[in-house]
Amino acid sequence: MGDAVRVGMLGLGVVGCGVARALDEKADAIARRAGRPVHLARVLVRDPQRPREYTPRAPLTADPAEILEDAGIDVVVEVLGGEQPACEYILAAIRRGKHVVTANKEVMAKHGPAILAAAAEQGVDVGFEASVGGGIPLIGPFRLDLLANELTSVAGILNGTTNYMLTAMATGTQTYAEALAEAQRLGYAEPDPGNDVEGIDAAYKLTILGSLAFHTRVSPSDVYYEGITRLAPSDFRYARELGYAIKLLALGRLVDGAVELRVHPAFVPRSSMLAAVDGVYNAVQVEGDLVGRVLFYGRGAGPGPTSSAVVADIMDLAQRVGISGPARLVPLAPTEHRPIRPMRDVRTRYYVRIVAVDRPGVIAAIAGIFGELDVSLASVLQKEDVVLEEGSRYAEIVFLTHEAREAAVQDAIGRIAALPVVHHIGSLIRVEG
Ligand SMILES: NC(=O)c1ccc[n+]([C@@H]2O[C@H](COP(=O)([O-])OP(=O)(O)OC[C@H]3O[C@@H](n4cnc5c(N)ncnc54)[C@H](OP(=O)(O)O)[C@@H]3O)[C@@H](O)[C@H]2O)c1
Repeated sequence: MGDAVRVGMLGLGVVGCGVARALDEKADAIARRAGRPVHLARVLVRDPQRPREYTPRAPLTADPAEILEDAGIDVVVEVLGGEQPACEYILAAIRRGKHVVTANKEVMAKHGPAILAAAAEQGVDVGFEASVGGGIPLIGPFRLDLLANELTSVAGILNGTTNYMLTAMATGTQTYAEALAEAQRLGYAEPDPGNDVEGIDAAYKLTILGSLAFHTRVSPSDVYYEGITRLAPSDFRYARELGYAIKLLALGRLVDGAVELRVHPAFVPRSSMLAAVDGVYNAVQVEGDLVGRVLFYGRGAGPGPTSSAVVADIMDLAQRVGISGPARLVPLAPTEHRPIRPMRDVRTRYYVRIVAVDRPGVIAAIAGIFGELDVSLASVLQKEDVVLEEGSRYAEIVFLTHEAREAAVQDAIGRIAALPVVHHIGSLIRVEG
């Protein structure tokens, strides 16, 4: 058995405690499988006195230099979260010739290219399996197992919080506010849920997966995102009736050589694999020219799944620490320069729910505008009467379009909203699959 690999960890929260517990409690099995012991040498926290979920055997410190400048530490695990100082610490560790393992999607989405370039220059490696999909093996397969493929599509449910809420809302028993309150009570949603419910967390993850899948440089600003805050109970009723489930979909596609990246609520056919992914589970469906369709499924968060990915990255590095030569057989630098397709050029199908005056001719007026803008309608449903104001009755009208260009649909929606007979546009949800 080789010499011990010494690990310094930055952060001892949900993930940090999970990682420390796994390293302590599974030390023997980890040493046997990695070929050398993995020793947690020190852990950085803000407040070493604070009681924690798990107290590691390793000493705690509030001074980052005790880890970053300790020449005896081989691998730095960053599980602090947030953009700074996490990114600054990762770069400092790399400059000192240390390998890095991180669970930080925000840092990898925003600064991944700079971090990976700095690591390549220093001959060290960066493991970031835990940054997308928690315990689901994704980065490893994208870095190696799928590499012979031209991937044409990566479609995923990458945020467990919103998937939990959408699953609850689909039963018809919970509104958005109730589903959020329950997710917070169960610890699935943060007290400030903005990043999850607005689609930002999923957009960071899609930035990472998109760059790996399409071998091109992707930054968070290349990803269109929209959250789940505007979905209404009636959208779930219509979805059910029409044979769909509503999911917060993260979608990357290669279309005519350009990369399309978007995160938004979507109608997905109830018969599809992604529609069956409920609760806090995550899933990613990949399509490649050789492999066909592959589905990755599992728990996307929590101390157990996330530490599974972090500890595996540490063990992978443990097998290579001290070995000279290129750190990775597969370089991570982008090999293609693919244009990003702007959202306005995306073509898909749409569900549009409109609340309008209940009077003959209204549907024809709305359909006329869609027609003028080349948005062809697949079906129209008028189901529910809604009483919005004293004495005024309105109809809720649902339009399903054939495939149309996003810009044309947005243009049509703008003009329809301005019609005097239209009270408001209830929702616009893209229909995928
Ligand atoms: N939670 C999950 O299930 C999950 C899943 C996948 C990926 N991730 C990612 O993993 C990372 C960590 O998430 P988490 O849920 O474990 O976060 P967390 O529970 O908030 O823990 C953060 C830890 O970092 C420490 N910390 C934060 N800023 C610090 C600073 N400036 N100096 C020193 N210590 C600092 C905190 O110290 P104190 O304890 O002293 O405050 C705490 O121990 C994030 O990037 C997150 O996106 C999380």
